[in-house]
Amino acid sequence: MNQTQKWPYRLLAPGPVPVPKAVMSKMSEKVLHHRTPEFEKILAESWRGLKYVFNTEQSVQILTGTGTSAMEAAVINICSPGDEVLVIVSGKFGERWAEICQRYGIKTETIEVEWGQAVNLDLLAAALKTKKFSAVFSQVCETSTATLHPIQKMSELIRRESPGTLFAVDAITAVGCLPLPMDDWQLDVVIAGSQKAFMIPTGLSFIALSERAWTAQKTSKCPKYYLDLALEKKANLKNETHFSTPTPLVSGLTAVLNRIQEVGLGQVAARCEALAGVTREFGERAGLKVYSTSPSPSVTALRTPAGTDGAGLRDWLERERNITIMGGQDQLKGKIVRVGHMGDVRNEDMSALFESLSDKLEVKIDSTDLETRLAQAPVLFP
Ligand SMILES: Cc1ncc(COP(=O)(O)O)c(C=O)c1O
Repeated sequence: MNQTQKWPYRLLAPGPVPVPKAVMSKMSEKVLHHRTPEFEKILAESWRGLKYVFNTEQSVQILTGTGTSAMEAAVINICSPGDEVLVIVSGKFGERWAEICQRYGIKTETIEVEWGQAVNLDLLAAALKTKKFSAVFSQVCETSTATLHPIQKMSELIRRESPGTLFAVDAITAVGCLPLPMDDWQLDVVIAGSQKAFMIPTGLSFIALSERAWTAQKTSKCPKYYLDLALEKKANLKNETHFSTPTPLVSGLTAVLNRIQEVGLGQVAARCEALAGVTREFGERAGLKVYSTSPSPSVTALRTPAGTDGAGLRDWLERERNITIMGGQDQLKGKIVRVGHMGDVRNEDMSALFESLSDKLEVKIDSTDLETRLAQAPVLFP
């Protein structure tokens, strides 16, 4: 038996995540043309499913482009050059919000949050008192540090302190992993990505705007062509997308969304939470420490023990055990590893990871206990 047969490929990254077999076969059925009645039906089904997952009455657009294109779409559709915005920067993706805003000539102030921590609400309240920002941008989960921000409380605060300010959230590693009711929490822009809890390959992103954000969209003066959401909306009203669409990805998406509606969003989030709990607990038992003080259910960052290089550990897992996880970036390079547990990560993937960690770090992990814990997690795809 060669190494690959003994250790089948296991993808435990914070995106892309494994694609369920049934979804993979759905995507390989055929390549429909995007301007056909057959595809229009699939598209309409996808939009319905997305509204369910985003928990909104607003329409959710499907963009052909990775999550960053939805981030850029958010900025250029609700802001104008010269606007003043506030960005929560608690890691690499917060930095990205700020860079996009700056690139479009938007005056960008930041709240710099120590990596691994959630934003301090008092600091947010104080910043909101200094001036009237047209928008606040934040991640829901900052994937580079696996840290969750208190989005509901942040939204309430923004409404209270600065009622006209829009609140745009990058929920790329949050939608489908935790409760995030867009309308109830009065979020103005929510974005997500296909390669995370939507369990299909990288390439699509999703964006929804509140009524207030659509009003801002009408007067926003940032240049836009491919990412003009008003044009996309017009096409969507005719049951079409404005540009060509990778139809196999949308077919896969529809299959996932139908399954999510069958099992219920609560169960999907519960699986994520259960696997996060297992990762935190068994990671600690293996001698790693949970890095974030506000850990996310979608991805866990584990600090490697003194004397163990995180990058080396990640490379070893990939080379010797065929398991892909991610390391740390910038200041966290070599210091942490990040394990994703969104979507259809299987119990056997988690077992293989902890068996490997136990081998490499020479610590004993009670595999019966691990299996029992994993068996308690709700199942998404049989
Ligand atoms: C929170 C967050 N924002 C933005 C992105 C960027 O998405 P993409 O790489 O799909 O452009 C990612 C990707 O991992 C992410 O996790």
